[in-house]
Amino acid sequence: MPFPSLRGMLTMLRLSVIFLVGVLLVRTMAWTSSGNSHSQLVQNLKSYQATISAPQMHAYALECLNSHLYEGARALDVGSGSGYLTACMAKMVGATGTVVGIDHIQELVEQSIRNVQSDNATLLSSGRLTLIAGDGRRGYPEGAPYDAIHVGAAAAVVPQNLLDQLKPGGRMVVSVGVSGGSQSLQQFDKTLDGTIVRTTLMGVIYVPLTDREKQLRGHDL
Ligand SMILES: C[S@@+](CC[C@H](N)C(=O)[O-])C[C@H]1O[C@@H](n2cnc3c(N)ncnc32)[C@H](O)[C@@H]1O
Repeated sequence: MPFPSLRGMLTMLRLSVIFLVGVLLVRTMAWTSSGNSHSQLVQNLKSYQATISAPQMHAYALECLNSHLYEGARALDVGSGSGYLTACMAKMVGATGTVVGIDHIQELVEQSIRNVQSDNATLLSSGRLTLIAGDGRRGYPEGAPYDAIHVGAAAAVVPQNLLDQLKPGGRMVVSVGVSGGSQSLQQFDKTLDGTIVRTTLMGVIYVPLTDREKQLRGHDL
């Protein structure tokens, strides 16, 4: 499975030592955070006050979606944050595929664009990868239908808008459950006749898919 860069992979591996499950609260500099010790790394991540998914959850989600991120596929990453996972998805769909990442924090989207520009600018200039600001609970109908949808935050209920934007034969991976409570990572497959097949993958702890204002006030986290 291709990943964007050695530097990115090393960062993920460092993080995985610390984040055994779920998510850690950090902000926009998550892409480039590092430290000479675990405590220094944690301090640096905390100081950026953002959210990034645990690296092993990124890897797991990509494995789940692997067969749907084929050359030429269309994909959507809701809660794209640093842009790391979205960039991975863009690499997987190849030159003829398209991936949209959406996050409701404008500054985060701008940072994610800078992140990708510094690592692989042609993903953006070619139009293969688009990073936009918006409420991901509505999905991104302009790019639908999608072969693959990933949601990087926990939906309180199954997001019907996103299911509607899934192509017949498509797959969505999303954590479903209450903030701070019981959540499970779920896979939704839309069959060719439109039937939804739901598979529970594992228990997880994700930050909520929520209102922008609530997130900025630190509620729900
Ligand atoms: C755990 S982070 C995902 C990190 C991302 N996978 C990465 O590689 O950096 C969850 C993200 O969901 C975003 N988010 C939460 N609610 C949202 C909503 N309603 N619409 C769009 N993004 C949302 C947050 O701003 C945050 O960036």
